[in-house]
Amino acid sequence: MACGIDHVQDAKVKAEELRFEISRHDYLYHVKSEPEISDAEYDELMRRLRAIEAHYPELVSPDSPTQRVTEQLVEGFPPVEHRLPMLSLANAFNFGHLQAWHKRASALAATDKFEMVCEPKIDGLAVALVYKNGRLVQGATRGNGFQGDNITENLKTIRSIPLQLQGKRFPEQFEVRCEVYMSKSAFELLNETLLDHGERPAANPRNAAAGSLRQKNPQITASRKLDVWIYQLGWAEGDGALPPSHHETLRWLGELGFRINPEIRRFKDLQAVEAHYRSWEDRRHDLDYEIDGMVVKIDQKSLWDELGYVGREPRWAIAYKFPPVQATRSRFSSRFRSAA
Ligand code: IVH
Repeated sequence: MACGIDHVQDAKVKAEELRFEISRHDYLYHVKSEPEISDAEYDELMRRLRAIEAHYPELVSPDSPTQRVTEQLVEGFPPVEHRLPMLSLANAFNFGHLQAWHKRASALAATDKFEMVCEPKIDGLAVALVYKNGRLVQGATRGNGFQGDNITENLKTIRSIPLQLQGKRFPEQFEVRCEVYMSKSAFELLNETLLDHGERPAANPRNAAAGSLRQKNPQITASRKLDVWIYQLGWAEGDGALPPSHHETLRWLGELGFRINPEIRRFKDLQAVEAHYRSWEDRRHDLDYEIDGMVVKIDQKSLWDELGYVGREPRWAIAYKFPPVQATRSRFSSRFRSAA
């Protein structure tokens, strides 16, 4: 494949330019849903980058968009120690529980004048992504909270996970936490395909996402149409002040190219949080992904340190769960049974 560039230094500069441009278009298409170029124009950018990398293989870098889906099988998922444990959340099942949480937090913080951020609680799999100098270097499962599995190659196949960040101002190294999920429509399509091939369908989108992330062949993961919502900054090091509130942090992460859920809201008091939760109780079924509650987080980050943790659960957040839905037999399970 001719690339028309005679010197490796020129090729290096051109490859970097193309990678940056492609990552911007990935962001516009997969995160913002506002594409600026046609598929054919995008394919042409990829073709030019592939041509340079084919001519100068020494320029191929793991974060190149050409490396999203590797052809090699992964050998296994080596363990990764989380620098900051990935904890879980206490649950509230009614407004009384939520009030009790708020009262305890207010007593410890010596104020009840704090804002709260409400986020859909995505029913997927928690994952930690590490970025160094603006490039994705590692992605790992939650595991037992202290140690997870390195599933970087499979996570790279998810197009809404940036391999390279937008802009130039970010901490030298940092970690974001997110939920990887399969949409309801992708799940239905997957099960239809599995049944057509005489294979066992997945029980629900969460299991389908979990199975897809643990494939030894990243090409299979890539075919599974997984997606991601980023919900938190883990740790960060290097220059630059971080936003003082969680809400601002999410907005800033959005500017860096991360996919942030558009249904996230900030409220001044608990009544407003309750009204928001109620408004989602039925509406949640209209979403194309499963949520099992609202996560309520105190917005002000300085209060996170003050409030601390009880066991493995932070005092500054709580999962306000929706009542479980009565299980209905899906058309997949009946089809599966008759096929078995
Ligand atoms: S925050 C300290 N925000 O729920 C834990 N978690 O039960 C902070 N989850 O392991 C977690 N959506 O997998 C947070 N918007 C959200 C979430 C969310 C789903 C999951 C996550 C976590 C589990 C905690």
